[in-house]
Parts: sequence; C-alpha cells; structure tokens
Amino acid sequence: SSRIFSGMQPTSDSLQLGNYLGALTQWVALQEGNEAIYCVVDLHALTVSPDPAVLRDRTRRTAAQYLAAGVDPERSLLFVQSHVPEHAELAWLLSCHTGFGEAGRMTQFKDKSGKQGSEGTTVGLFTYPVLMAADILLYDTNLVPVGEDQRQHLELTRDLAQRLNTRFGAGTVVVPEPHIVKSTAKIYDLQDPTAKMSKSAASPNGLIELLDDPKVIAKRIRSAVTDTEREIRFDPVNKAGISNLLTIYSALTGRSIPELEASFEGRGYGDLKVELAGVVVDWVTPYQERVHGYLADPASLDEILAAGADKARDIAAVTLDRLYERTGLLARR
Ligand code: TYM
Repeated sequence: SSRIFSGMQPTSDSLQLGNYLGALTQWVALQEGNEAIYCVVDLHALTVSPDPAVLRDRTRRTAAQYLAAGVDPERSLLFVQSHVPEHAELAWLLSCHTGFGEAGRMTQFKDKSGKQGSEGTTVGLFTYPVLMAADILLYDTNLVPVGEDQRQHLELTRDLAQRLNTRFGAGTVVVPEPHIVKSTAKIYDLQDPTAKMSKSAASPNGLIELLDDPKVIAKRIRSAVTDTEREIRFDPVNKAGISNLLTIYSALTGRSIPELEASFEGRGYGDLKVELAGVVVDWVTPYQERVHGYLADPASLDEILAAGADKARDIAAVTLDRLYERTGLLARR
C-alpha cells in the first residue's frame, strides 16, 4: 500500500476534460489498495487573486467534482488545503532550502510571470512550487498522480526531498514519485491540437468544461480541428487532432486505440466526431447530475471536508514535528 497525494486548484467553475483524464481518473483508480489523500488547493488559487466569494464557491465546486468523479470519502481523505495550516508552515521551511535560481527556472512560473510583467507578478506565484512540494512531503507521499505539465514541479519536489535527507539525515522525508500515465498525460486543445487543453486557452472552443451545457460540449467536439487526410489513425506527430480525439474516446470507453482504428476503418472524420460527442455527452450528463446533487447540500459537503481536514491534520502534524525537530527548531513544552 502506498501513500497517494494530489490536488487541483479551484480556479474555475468547472474542471476541464484534461483535469479529468490526466489526473482525476487516476486518483479514483489509485484509491484501491492505497492510502489516498486528495486536496482542493485553495492557497495556490490565491496566486491568481480571485474574487473572495468566487473562490469560496469554486472551492466547493471543485470538491463536489472530485466526489462526482468517484473520489470516495469513506476510503480517501478529501479536504481543503487552507484547513490544514501545516501546508503553509512546511512551505516556509522548504523555501529556506530552495534556490532562487532553481525556483526561477520553473517553466510555469516563467510563462505566467512573462505574461504579467515583474510588477504584476507576486512572490506567491514565484514560491507556488514550494507550497506544492510542501503539500506532497507533508504526507510522506509515495506517488503523485498528475498530468505531464506538473512533471517539472515534481522534479523540484524530489530535489528538495533529497536535499533534506542529505542535510538532516536519511528518512527526514519520503522522496515521492510522479504517477503520470502516458496515454492521457496531456490532453490537447480541440482547436489547437499542439497545445495542451487548458482553462486559459486563447479560444474557448478548444476547451471541454465538464459542467458546460452538453449541447455546447457536443458542438465543440464536432468542430474539432483535424487535418486534410481522410484516414482515422493514431499518429500524434502528423495527425495531432485525430489522435487527441482517439485518446479521449479510448480513455472514456476503455476501448483500445487499435480497436477504435479498426472500427473506424473506411469511415470519415465526421463519423468519429459525432460518435465521440455522443460518448462524452452520455458520460458527462450523469456526472453533472451528481455534481449538482452535492452542491445542493453544501452542509453535507462541508462536513465531508471538515472530517477530511481533521484526519489530514493528524498526519501533517506528526510530519511537521519531525521536520521542526530535525531542522533545529526548539520543541514547545
Ligand atoms: P491544476 O489545477 O492546473 O491541474 C489539475 C490536474 O490536471 C492536470 N491537467 C492535465 N492533464 C492532462 N491534460 C491536460 N490538458 C491537463 N490540464 C491539467 C494537471 O497536470 C494536474 O494534475 N500545481 C497543480 C496543483 C497542485 C498539486 C499539488 C498537484 C498543488 N499542489 C500537490 C499535485 C500535488 C496544478 O496547478 O494543477
């Protein structure tokens, strides 16, 4: 049995299909036989300076979507990051072991700060990956299920963990491994199949938001950019759009790519899009009903989150005590 930890930012009303296929399906699968801990990382979301009421709403909506996807609070811990203050405390400790240049090399930081300019860029955005490392190391995590875009942050987390073990002795922290499933690690934008699907994409038409009107979702799939050939074949280099559609189809149905290629032999791109739109709508409709069920009862949702936070704190406090002791902070009597 391994300790699993992962989280998502509550930065939009709805998760997008990349979050679901790249991460959330793995979260659900890894609950089986492991100790899984899943978090809504609201402190990370503060880096985009959200409206307070909107952030609160999105935090609940994100938790409701974890549950609707199959995160089971009877088996896994589900909580909100800010409810466990040890995350921020460990982040401070780790920031004192992170090189300024090392943090500056994070590509997500460079992309985001590049867009905002140095005056618009906060220190919080800069230290974002350090807080992420704290999330992970606080639970002696073995495996972190994420999409490809988090790989560099996981490498920083591992570097920090090894550094602490070298400096303060073996066993100070557990060195985590990323769990990145190649086939779905990067779901692409429907309008620009060379870019990852993301809530900050240039055009909304490339994005599948899981809580969007199923009619809009179907239309976006039917309008996906493909290529000028006719053959339905998995070839990410030459046929990025078609390959992305096949990846999504395969992930949602469990049918293999070769099986799909065979079933679409001699058929047109339009057939693939129409069928896939049907698959997505059939899956997303009951998902949306479950999300709205959880959101209709915020008191029960808050209770699940509070119970998760209590249990998470018990684990986090033990780790933080160990690290405070090893790093030379005087124990409180
Ligand atoms: P976030 O909120 O941007 O994304 C949540 C998860 O979705 C994955 N993902 C994708 N996977 C495949 N294809 C895509 N197009 C796609 N878009 C997003 C992300 O890789 C991620 O797994 N820094 C993290 C949140 C975080 C975290 C953590 C994760 C904070 N602390 C500790 C793991 C462990 C983030 O911004 O994810």
